[in-house]
Amino acid sequence: MLDRRGFLGAIALSPAIAPIAFLEPNHLPGMLEVLGAYASSPAPPERIAGDEDFWFQIQEAFTVDRTIINLNNGGVSPALSVVQDSMKKYLDFSHRAPVYNMWRILEPQKESVRKGLAELFGAAPEEIAITRNTSEGLQICQFGFDLEPGDEVLTTNQDYPRMINTWKQSERRQGIVLRQFSTPVPAEDIGQIVSLFEEQINSRTRLILMCHMINLTGQILPVKEVVQMARKRGIPVIVDGAHSFAHVDARREDLDCDYYATSLHKWLFSPHGTGMLYVRRDRIKDLWPLMAASEGQDEDIRKYEEIGTHPAASFLAIGDALAVHQGIGPARKEARMRYLRDYWANRLLENPRVRLHTSLDPRFSCGLANMQIEGVDSAQLTSYLWKEYRILVTTIKHDEFEGIRVTPSVYTQLNELDRFCDVVEGVIKNGIPS
Ligand SMILES: Cc1ncc(COP(=O)(O)O)c(C=O)c1O
Repeated sequence: MLDRRGFLGAIALSPAIAPIAFLEPNHLPGMLEVLGAYASSPAPPERIAGDEDFWFQIQEAFTVDRTIINLNNGGVSPALSVVQDSMKKYLDFSHRAPVYNMWRILEPQKESVRKGLAELFGAAPEEIAITRNTSEGLQICQFGFDLEPGDEVLTTNQDYPRMINTWKQSERRQGIVLRQFSTPVPAEDIGQIVSLFEEQINSRTRLILMCHMINLTGQILPVKEVVQMARKRGIPVIVDGAHSFAHVDARREDLDCDYYATSLHKWLFSPHGTGMLYVRRDRIKDLWPLMAASEGQDEDIRKYEEIGTHPAASFLAIGDALAVHQGIGPARKEARMRYLRDYWANRLLENPRVRLHTSLDPRFSCGLANMQIEGVDSAQLTSYLWKEYRILVTTIKHDEFEGIRVTPSVYTQLNELDRFCDVVEGVIKNGIPS
């Protein structure tokens, strides 16, 4: 954990920005003060989770529209204001002379961001590729293995539609076979989940794709146990970390995974269009990139970054998001996210018509949860919340369950959750007015 001076230094001298020194520490004075004061605090994360003075300063680090109660931060997050400012400055600088400023000065600074991401995830920098989002990282993995007609890939029926479509396209194009199975909602038995994966494996199974945190319900799956089971059988597991990275404080060693892709515009509060792919060092050689790279790059993680001309600004501003994330403290952020979820969920669960499709056990969930009011259509509830109260949630309709997904963020204020609960309780009592 950084002390106050260390944290100020991390912001002001973030290696990604040091050569141009865009950021002034007075960018976010209140937040720096409070983070500085708490940096060496011995208080456990669970206690700080309910300290509104601490979180008020973090709330101020965003530029969100407070006429909207945005409880759909699972979709995409606003970036921190310091990240937005930094990105704009990098863009301005790039446009003065892109071939020189962007390619020769800014682009090499990406290496500092790679190091920062590696440190946070507990990996080596040579195992971290900076991508544009989870989709890109996962598709590098999904298309990067040589599969033959008849080869099977295994995943659940709750994985992300784009990733399912990727396999379905490979079914049409190459004749592979996609096998999907159902998992309990919520799932609270690690052994049972591992067995469900294991039971589906047969002699044609070549790959497994699994979510760390399922976007529909916030369910956290036991990645490490599934990876270790599959590794014994020689089957690689591609981990979809879209919702878990910088949300739960899980590092590579906690997952023991070889392939992990995430988006940084969700829970790291980085610019939109930023992501990270981890590939274990000895697996890089055998995983093809999506866009071709030279033979000399076969064992270089940077082969996954050969995407043609793209802005350096967004990738470098990840460095600013990393500095704030480390300053807040990953464990404190996770605890706050769970605190916010419990705040609204426990109040609404007092009503017997409210069902939560998300476990409250911290091993199986964090800040993202799915709730349903029995007898109320979830799509109508979403629409009513938005039209009448400017409260944003998202409807989840799956063949096996439905509900609204509620995802506050660290900038969410408790009175916003109170208002959300008041409206939902009104609907339970009186229905949705027609
Ligand atoms: C589970 C999961 N996987 C992958 C993605 C794709 O993320 P992106 O659109 O950032 O590529 C999402 C997006 O919400 C997701 O929820």
